[in-house]
Amino acid sequence: MERRTIGATALGVGAVGLGCMPMNWAYSRSQQRGDRSLRAVHAALDAGVSLLDTADMYGPFTNELLLGRVLKERRSDVFVSTKCGLLVGDGHVVANGRPEYVRRACDASLRRLQTDVLDLYLLHRADPEVPVEETWGAMAGLVAAGKVRALGLSAVGVRRPRRSRTGDLYEGTIRQLARVQQVFPVAAVQAELSLWAPEALARLLPWCAARGVGLLAAMPLGSGFLTGTLTPGGGFEPDDPRARHPRFTSEMMAANQPLVAGLRRVAERHGDGVTPAQVALAWVLAQGRHVVPVPGTKRARWAVENAGAAGLRLTAGDLAELAALPGARESWD
Ligand SMILES: NC(=O)c1ccc[n+]([C@@H]2O[C@H](COP(=O)([O-])OP(=O)(O)OC[C@H]3O[C@@H](n4cnc5c(N)ncnc54)[C@H](OP(=O)(O)O)[C@@H]3O)[C@@H](O)[C@H]2O)c1
Repeated sequence: MERRTIGATALGVGAVGLGCMPMNWAYSRSQQRGDRSLRAVHAALDAGVSLLDTADMYGPFTNELLLGRVLKERRSDVFVSTKCGLLVGDGHVVANGRPEYVRRACDASLRRLQTDVLDLYLLHRADPEVPVEETWGAMAGLVAAGKVRALGLSAVGVRRPRRSRTGDLYEGTIRQLARVQQVFPVAAVQAELSLWAPEALARLLPWCAARGVGLLAAMPLGSGFLTGTLTPGGGFEPDDPRARHPRFTSEMMAANQPLVAGLRRVAERHGDGVTPAQVALAWVLAQGRHVVPVPGTKRARWAVENAGAAGLRLTAGDLAELAALPGARESWD
């Protein structure tokens, strides 16, 4: 698989990563089985994937425990990216960016992951009660202590209604990045990026490119929508948050079908069993050499299919066609 580097760290990874969140956190609990997820991780690694994206919050903790079983056997095949700073409380999620907490969280992640160093440590969300420089300073201390190789900031889930006056969803994130850069270099940012959520292209991606910062594209398959395997009406399990998410109402899914149809058209033109999911990922890969999509799945078949997107080269004509696709994106703002 083509290799890409994570920011200025010179740490190489396969161009397509694996998002491990669906194995223990999203989407429906009833679909989650450890044995199947383990097979998916091994299949992805065998297909050339190296970046595994997890978080202490996924489960909570069980996703790191699952990956620990893989790292124990195959540490040299894996670039492990995990996150701290969000805790699952009584039915809600709270931020904790206090330095002493961050240090404890890192030690706990190292134990669960059965490793002595994290390749990338992301701040899941900044804590509004703690200056981000303080949290980041503690994380920089973990690099100095040899427990972490590189630091990143996660900006997924930035609430759309908080769009700034200039209309840029990531304006606040960019301000935060500028602040933490003063303390210790940012190697990577994790943000949502897909054909139906392309907001990061406006300013965040250029900000990263100009500074040699990698962009880990979260939800690159539009939480499954862009694969063409979800149909309007959903059929989601009752505990799947998509059953209640505004992006997945029957009306919104129907309105966005032209995106799926466009992906399918491009896939068919490439032949050789190319799928809409692979075209969606190839579109993300085409946004810059510093972009690494982390598609999430708990199935070996899809992990291998997604890894195959690294070998798919979209033409300028494909990219223009995809860029021109009508979508109903704006109506969920
Ligand atoms: N930092 C953050 O706050 C944050 C937030 C969201 C996501 N992330 C990261 O980004 C990763 C990706 O996001 P995501 O998992 O939410 O969304 P995604 O990658 O856009 O889509 C995942 C969904 O697509 C399905 N899928 C995957 N490959 C498929 C294929 N080839 N064909 C058909 N369906 C396929 C999966 O099904 P199955 O699960 O049934 O296999 C899952 O339901 C996460 O795993 C996580 O690591 C980070």
